[in-house]
Amino acid sequence: MTQHYRITLLPGDGIGPEIMAVAVDILKLVAQQLDLSFEFQEAPVGGVAIDATGNPLPDETLQICRNSDAVLLAAIGGYKWDSLPRHQRPETGLLGLRAGLGLFANLRPAKILPQLVDASSLKREVVEGVDIMVVRELTGGIYFGQPKGIFETETGEKRGVNTMAYTESEIDRIGRVAFETARKRGSKLCSVDKANVLEVSQLWRDRITLLAKEYPDVELSHLYVDNAAMQLVRWPKQFDTIVTGNLFGDILSDAAAMLTGSIGMLPSASLGASGPGVFEPVHGSAPDIAGLDKANPIAQVLSAAMMLRYGLNQPAAADKIELAAQQVLDAGYRTGDIMSEGMKLVGCRAMGDALLEALDR
Ligand code: IPM
Ligand code: MG
Repeated sequence: MTQHYRITLLPGDGIGPEIMAVAVDILKLVAQQLDLSFEFQEAPVGGVAIDATGNPLPDETLQICRNSDAVLLAAIGGYKWDSLPRHQRPETGLLGLRAGLGLFANLRPAKILPQLVDASSLKREVVEGVDIMVVRELTGGIYFGQPKGIFETETGEKRGVNTMAYTESEIDRIGRVAFETARKRGSKLCSVDKANVLEVSQLWRDRITLLAKEYPDVELSHLYVDNAAMQLVRWPKQFDTIVTGNLFGDILSDAAAMLTGSIGMLPSASLGASGPGVFEPVHGSAPDIAGLDKANPIAQVLSAAMMLRYGLNQPAAADKIELAAQQVLDAGYRTGDIMSEGMKLVGCRAMGDALLEALDR
């Protein structure tokens, strides 16, 4: 029987629509091949939504997302909206989407592909074989803690405030996702915090340590975030799965991504306790190359694969897409961000065509 899925597409801003178009073509082809059926509905988020409605996350968009089986997001933001008040910024729309769908767990794999070892800024022996999964808490911590704002003090001076806070249950639920994720990989989990300075991190460390008793098969270690940043560039192969809070995860996942040579290659999954997940590339909207047919669509396509694997439980379809991505790289196709000598430089659309062809073989 044909499996039917409702997919919400959020192309967003900048290169978003170009890379989304490639991912949708790929999904249509894989649906044909594996007897799946996708009903796509598109909705505005980020800058395009601000232009159309004044709100970076219109209620209707959130509603459409809630009523779907999975959400595929491209990228949001751009210079045009950078100076608007915070509640009208594209980023606020993204945070609202994460909070609105309860997506507390963000999985960001950073796996170096053998074809791209030389695209990394680090030495071959340091990055070859790197395969890290960053599990980032996504709906708590300093991104959402209260109080927050810019307040006036008694002297009339302004004071900016954000609050880094985690409750035990928030730590436990992301901890569980991380231990389970580690279990399916190399069974090594490194929890990253700043427990030498921050109380919130002390609680984090205590809870993760307690949780470890339930996962005796997973080897747990702890690192302070400054040390973790250093270890990531010094010897990344020591890491298997990393679990950390929202802000540290934001920073460390970019660093981990760059080990692989280009942030243009990496997908991510954001999951809640139930309901649809959001699947999106780790990279941003790259407004400098928007509309120029230069963007690398691979992270978007791999995000569609993650959607099939983690959101829709269709691992065979995910495998097919991931294999096609490997094959186009083996065949030497490269967008500008991953270009190296002797390879074939292509644009976004041509990369999409190559992927379709590989998928069709
Ligand atoms: C990310 C981004 C976002 C974040 C921004 C765009 C709000 O950097 O997904 O990592 O900080 O979470
Ligand atoms: Mg980030």
